[in-house]
Amino acid sequence: MREVRISQLLNSGEPGQTVVVEGWVRSRRDSKAGLSFIDVNDGSSLNSLQIVAQNSLTNYQDVITQLTTGSSVVVRGTLVKARKARVEVEATSVELVGDSPADYPLQKKGHTFEFLREKAHLRPRTNSLGAVMRVRHELAMAIHDFFREQGFIWVHTPIITASDAEGAGELFRVTTLDSKTPPLDDNGNIDRKQDFFGRDTFLTVSGQLEGEALACAMGRIYTFGPTFRAENSNTARHASEFWMVEPEMAFCDTVGNQNLAEAFIKHVVSHALHRCEEDLAFFDQRIEKNLIQSLTHVAETPFERMTYTQAITELKKSGQSFEYPPEWGRALQSEHERYLCEEVLKKPIILTDYPAEGTAFYMRLNDDGKTVANMDVLVPRIGEIIGGSQREEREDVVLAKFKAHKISPEDYWWYLDLRRYGTVPHAGFGLGFERLVMYVTGMKNIRDVIPFPRTPRSAEF
Ligand code: 4AD
Ligand code: MG
Repeated sequence: MREVRISQLLNSGEPGQTVVVEGWVRSRRDSKAGLSFIDVNDGSSLNSLQIVAQNSLTNYQDVITQLTTGSSVVVRGTLVKARKARVEVEATSVELVGDSPADYPLQKKGHTFEFLREKAHLRPRTNSLGAVMRVRHELAMAIHDFFREQGFIWVHTPIITASDAEGAGELFRVTTLDSKTPPLDDNGNIDRKQDFFGRDTFLTVSGQLEGEALACAMGRIYTFGPTFRAENSNTARHASEFWMVEPEMAFCDTVGNQNLAEAFIKHVVSHALHRCEEDLAFFDQRIEKNLIQSLTHVAETPFERMTYTQAITELKKSGQSFEYPPEWGRALQSEHERYLCEEVLKKPIILTDYPAEGTAFYMRLNDDGKTVANMDVLVPRIGEIIGGSQREEREDVVLAKFKAHKISPEDYWWYLDLRRYGTVPHAGFGLGFERLVMYVTGMKNIRDVIPFPRTPRSAEF
């Protein structure tokens, strides 16, 4: 494989330089003057590189004038100046590597995203999905940079776990038992003691609980890995398999957690603005008007911070007619979140201190006895992008919460140990990585920011 990629040639190639270009043909145009123009894309850049092939090339008639969209080529030649401060390649040879017959599905531009989802193996070759993949990559890199600079270490929590971190019961079971004739115990229930791990096991919904154990040793950690939810909600923002970023900090309270979340989002958004200029300009033009302006605004202005109780007051006095009337103690619906975020404040909001009832067992109980020290970060267009909290570090309070949540303390003996031996205030959050990618690209459906998405009733590829 050659060393130089098309993005480098377009950005900093020197006219006169001899080059080898490997990629896929986007289009070919033959001119009457006896030469052809071939646009080649190699995935490194939104822009294709124009190749000029003269009819003096030996395979001009047989190969070059027959080149079709989607075929793969290796081009050798010289970089020359073209119009509009661009460069192109004057070819000395064009070699066809793999042709692409007329049934290639991505013939014309302007396919719908729904159509492209059915061609998930080919869609990275389109402008939009190619740009999504590059931005996704840059965001992942920015995340690692941010935490590394802040002294966090990246830890790898298990994908197969025995605990339900969110207590929401949205678990995919991991089993090797025969589904038709599973072994039964004396009560006629499936005997999990005979299963592969000798107990119930599931795909993780969150690395948080194990992350807490690591933070209570290493001080500052983060996870960045796949999580799974068997949640039957078919929305544009939910996937059954998605990546989560979960920092966890020892000796940290809820305000420290909020500060980290804000600095974190600002950092990764700024990074994308600097590193993905071309791709973001494309999204701004084609997908979400004023995307760059709104991202710049997010990177520069302080987020709003508001308690759940203040939010309910605000919603009630708004005079808006909501489908679900806002009432203290009830869950906030996305219509409420969107109203606050998009109509009232027009910027990200950190909503804190939700009613204790209905929240996860690990969230620290506030002194009022009614609310918890949690937060959701909401951003315009997406809604919730981050969920997190200060953790309940007091053993007696955790035990009381277990009782209320009907969780057996024996199953979480190790989690209790962390409260028994050198317990410490600690806090953390989870960012849905795909929601971040949607936010930064302006893409409207989570299925279009994951190369091979998994959603209810859909696991092709
Ligand atoms: O709010 P959630 O459920 O919080 C947790 O899992 C905590 N254990 C995190 C922590 O404190 N360490 O999920 C965190 C984020 C959400 O804010 C959302 O962005 C994303 O994960 N998320 C999903 N993204 C895509 N598809 C789904 N089905 C998602 N469910 C949650
Ligand atoms: Mg949440």
